[in-house]
Amino acid sequence: MTDIVFRDATATDIPVLHRLIESAYRGPASRAGWTTEAELLGGQRTDPDDLAAILADPAQAMLTAWRDGELVGCVLIADRGGGTGYFGMLAVNPTLQSGGLGRRLVEAAHESLAARFGARRARISVFPQRETLIAWYRRLGYEPTGETLPFPYDEPRFGLPLRDDLHFIVMERALA
Ligand SMILES: CC(C)(COP(=O)(O)OP(=O)(O)OC[C@H]1O[C@@H](n2cnc3c(N)ncnc32)[C@H](O)[C@@H]1OP(=O)(O)O)[C@@H](O)C(=O)NCCC(=O)NCCS
Repeated sequence: MTDIVFRDATATDIPVLHRLIESAYRGPASRAGWTTEAELLGGQRTDPDDLAAILADPAQAMLTAWRDGELVGCVLIADRGGGTGYFGMLAVNPTLQSGGLGRRLVEAAHESLAARFGARRARISVFPQRETLIAWYRRLGYEPTGETLPFPYDEPRFGLPLRDDLHFIVMERALA
């Protein structure tokens, strides 16, 4: 992969950001990658209004990765207070996955959570059915906390569940 440029997303990036996230998480395009939510959920992962709200929130930011002017990856970071940071909406162009960009985005999220929000630990939430993804997060230093979070079944803006037992497990790691 040629040089990757990282920068924060701005409002003008929303259309390409939206396309990238949907292509990585849902539907047939996502199946070109090694891990996807397509078997768990239909519908959307996010929408332009949701992304605009994230970009307008000082407690959140969207880190983006660009190659030759094309958006190839992103990750949302958020301050959860009390020294805890969160990352989510981690996405790499499905045709470019398994090349190390996902790991670089996670490392960038860690650095930004610590530098911008003073985070001492990072949290993520994952569907327990995604065993290969959980194994990867373990290799990145994350362990389950034992907590679970409900899936918002009453909010179709987060997706249309294909099963009735969806929930998240929480994983966490310390930041240097
Ligand atoms: C998760 C995601 C961001 C990873 O991006 P990526 O660029 O593939 O990440 P990397 O190349 O850095 O790492 C891929 C890892 O998966 C492993 N992997 C690749 N193919 C695999 C497979 N078929 N089964 C299991 N593991 C696999 C690689 O060995 C590598 O592990 P390592 O870093 O320990 O060597 C990307 O798959 C994605 O966008 N998925 C869809 C959206 C998503 O599910 N986001 C996370 C939601 S919480």
